[in-house]
Amino acid sequence: MRHCLCIDDISPEDIQSIIDQACALIDPATHRIESSQQAQGREVIMLFYEPSTRTHMSFALAAHRLGASVQMITPSHSSEQKGESFQDTIISLAAMSPDALVVRHPKARVLDSVVGDLPEEVHLINAGDGDHAHPTQGLLDTATIQHHKGAIQNLTVAIVGDSRHSRAAHSQITCLQKLGVQAIHLIAPEVFRYDGTGDRIKGFDDIGQGLQGCDAVIVHRLQQERLSDALKSSEAIDCMHLSAADFEHAKDDAILMHPGPVNWGQEIDEGLKAHPRSMIKAQIQMGVATRMALFSHLFRE
Ligand code: CP
Repeated sequence: MRHCLCIDDISPEDIQSIIDQACALIDPATHRIESSQQAQGREVIMLFYEPSTRTHMSFALAAHRLGASVQMITPSHSSEQKGESFQDTIISLAAMSPDALVVRHPKARVLDSVVGDLPEEVHLINAGDGDHAHPTQGLLDTATIQHHKGAIQNLTVAIVGDSRHSRAAHSQITCLQKLGVQAIHLIAPEVFRYDGTGDRIKGFDDIGQGLQGCDAVIVHRLQQERLSDALKSSEAIDCMHLSAADFEHAKDDAILMHPGPVNWGQEIDEGLKAHPRSMIKAQIQMGVATRMALFSHLFRE
């Protein structure tokens, strides 16, 4: 595995290996992540064209906890301000021979235009591109489910909310399918529901029906920044909300997840904030472990 651009490009064996390694990094006694120096001397450059709290900082901490050094460049302080193209920016950074370039960008599939021009030693990592993919989010959410619920093959996962425009949902769905998940229940009005195919995917308008038999429930916010004006004012939005009473329809031991950022009171009830089966903080911790596992996986080949 040379790059991490999209879950579709990663084999089930590589996905399983990264997830297993991420889970193993969390000490079962202390619940803390074990650090190491296995990437000492490695260099990571991060370039984010969109805001980020979790992804940005967890990539930085992941590199640091492996002993690698991290440099960050903000687009507003790069020579793109003087007219340089995105492609030339990436090629210029790659010419400095970092071990990895981590990029978030608002345009879907933008990294496809540069990946063929990179020197062999540079690994390119997609930290979220438009409405296309967020592969490390898919990996970390799948790792969280496996860590708390066991083998993915035995599980039914509900995805509540705007799965159509969410890159995180796209990567979760692909990742879960690649590991042979039993079923994925997409719960949203059709205009907001992921429109890809898969024989394990079922769509539901009714949240109570959709949550029946689910082992994990992942809620997504409305992707306001990617919606047309017509969709922003659609009445369908009113149905996209998980209440505490709704969550009772899932299995008694179901876990509650959200990739963040969370808009409490909008896509999910404030009352679920302190739910004993909420894994929202565990997902954030798994974000660091998964990105450590990904760096280790890429650097060892
Ligand atoms: N889940 C996620 O991508 O969060 P950030 O936008 O804060 O990185």
